[in-house]
Amino acid sequence: MAVSPEFIEDLRQRVPLSDVVARRVKLVRKGRRHSGLCPFHAEKTPSFSVVDDDGFYHCFGCGAHGDAISFLREMDGLEFLEAVERLAEMAGLRMPQSAPQDSAILNQRKVILTILEETTLFFEVALRREDGREAAHYLKQRGLNAAIVKAYRIGYSPRFGLRKTLKEKGFSDSDMLAAGVVGKSDRDSSFYDYFRDRVMFPIENRQGKVIAFGARALGDAQPKYLNSGEGPTFSKKGMLYGWVQARGGLRRNLPLVVVEGYMDVIAVHKSGVAAAVAPLGTALTIEQVALLWKLHDEPVLCFDGDVAGQNAQIRALERILPVLEPGRSARLAVLPQGKDPDDVILSSGVEGFSRIIATSQSLADSLWETLHAKFDLRKPELRAQFWQAIRDHVRSIGHTQVRSAYGDEVESRIATMRNQIRGGSSMVTPRQAFRPQTGLINRHRAVLALLLAHPATVSANFEALSMLDSGDLALESMKKALIDAVIIDPDLDAVALRHHLEGLNFSGALALVVGDDMKSRLPFNPAELSSAQATVYLDELLQLVGGKVGLFSQMDTFRK
Ligand code: UTP
Ligand code: MN
Repeated sequence: MAVSPEFIEDLRQRVPLSDVVARRVKLVRKGRRHSGLCPFHAEKTPSFSVVDDDGFYHCFGCGAHGDAISFLREMDGLEFLEAVERLAEMAGLRMPQSAPQDSAILNQRKVILTILEETTLFFEVALRREDGREAAHYLKQRGLNAAIVKAYRIGYSPRFGLRKTLKEKGFSDSDMLAAGVVGKSDRDSSFYDYFRDRVMFPIENRQGKVIAFGARALGDAQPKYLNSGEGPTFSKKGMLYGWVQARGGLRRNLPLVVVEGYMDVIAVHKSGVAAAVAPLGTALTIEQVALLWKLHDEPVLCFDGDVAGQNAQIRALERILPVLEPGRSARLAVLPQGKDPDDVILSSGVEGFSRIIATSQSLADSLWETLHAKFDLRKPELRAQFWQAIRDHVRSIGHTQVRSAYGDEVESRIATMRNQIRGGSSMVTPRQAFRPQTGLINRHRAVLALLLAHPATVSANFEALSMLDSGDLALESMKKALIDAVIIDPDLDAVALRHHLEGLNFSGALALVVGDDMKSRLPFNPAELSSAQATVYLDELLQLVGGKVGLFSQMDTFRK
């Protein structure tokens, strides 16, 4: 595009972010930052904050984060260039003259998006018509109610009528072709409706604009799913189905699961226990991983329990390891063989699916276990091969500190394995526990109890804390929220921190951490410790939960 990074930087310098935000949100100044009610989620007490010096906003509630341009894109649904234009206006600057072909492309994009929107409306109406009855019946029989159909804008493509309707609205065949809603016959170059007699799943971009369709056959027609071809507005590898609806779910602090199919996204969303997105019929790309991390620090990837699923797990690990960042990860969940999440919810109910999420493994555990399962570890040379394979994977991690942390973790597991063999233990294949254990989970809770009473200890232990994983989703997400809060405001005191977490609906998890049960397990009252004492205890506990043997004898009284 014709706008240079320097021009955008100039705009950022000239227009304070708080001016941009203040047009939509009532802000109150507090020292270096402004705060107000978050426009990205519903709240009654302000957790949205804007720091002009950095040019970033951040919401402690829903995690919304970005700069002036992303604010305008998300709030006003503007395209990148439109957002830049808006900022230029506010700065009183003229846009650099864009090349004519740029504006031609921009115009065609607009037309295509309009066609796609008109087409979506056409399909939505058709679903309610007489000829859409079979499709409506199909959806009902698959358990979808009117609210879900509306939320995902599901429709029906009749056998004909779309091209005619779009023509009447003044759209040209070439634009319809570019939008992918009509096809052109090789034989006589005539145009025809591309999707016929199918259930239509509109694919929306992050601004909620329809950019493509997935279309399911009714009954056994082939192919089962017909998708829009790649076009000027649509590239599969950079897209996730269900983004907008998932973002809504995450404002309620749900886990985020990544599934394979359109129907799975919808079934999980409907279950209410998780938000869901899906890549579009391909393996997860790096772009999609980056997108997932915009929604959640630790998305749960679902895999089939068969051999193909296991291989897919290894491929996903290989994809993610190189791009891991501190505090960013993924969990891997294994589905019963041959079943997708939609099937699981049908056969074992919402509880059945919750259980699958709850028993998902951290990335580190999955890495260890999936490779572990591939080698016969009774043979020394195969053991060596396993170690080599896992070390190779660790070496593929791009981020230095994450790589070191994984290196430590893997080396300590290898050492444990070797000790067991030297000690003649018959258990040559130690399985790492990944389910919450009563003993371990209480230690994790104790860590949080210390952090809550002494927020100042968080920053020195940021890395260690990010690497910890109790396996308990509520505890883990509270830990993340706590770390985030301290990063944003290092001076946060215990009272404010607790208040903040309560505001984020962590009251349940908080009660487990600061309640009577925990008090009776701890050899001290966290609030009465000096910060030096708190630091010592925290170090000790971190060693304990990290699996290392502690030195501090007082912790022996720490009942399991
Ligand atoms: P599945 O064949 O597992 O279908 O494909 P599904 O999602 O369970 O669909 P239902 O439950 O039978 O309706 C998984 C995903 O792979 C892509 C689609 O995105 C689909 O949701 N796919 C599948 C295609 O793109 N084309 C196909 O022909 C089949
Ligand atoms: Mn299915």
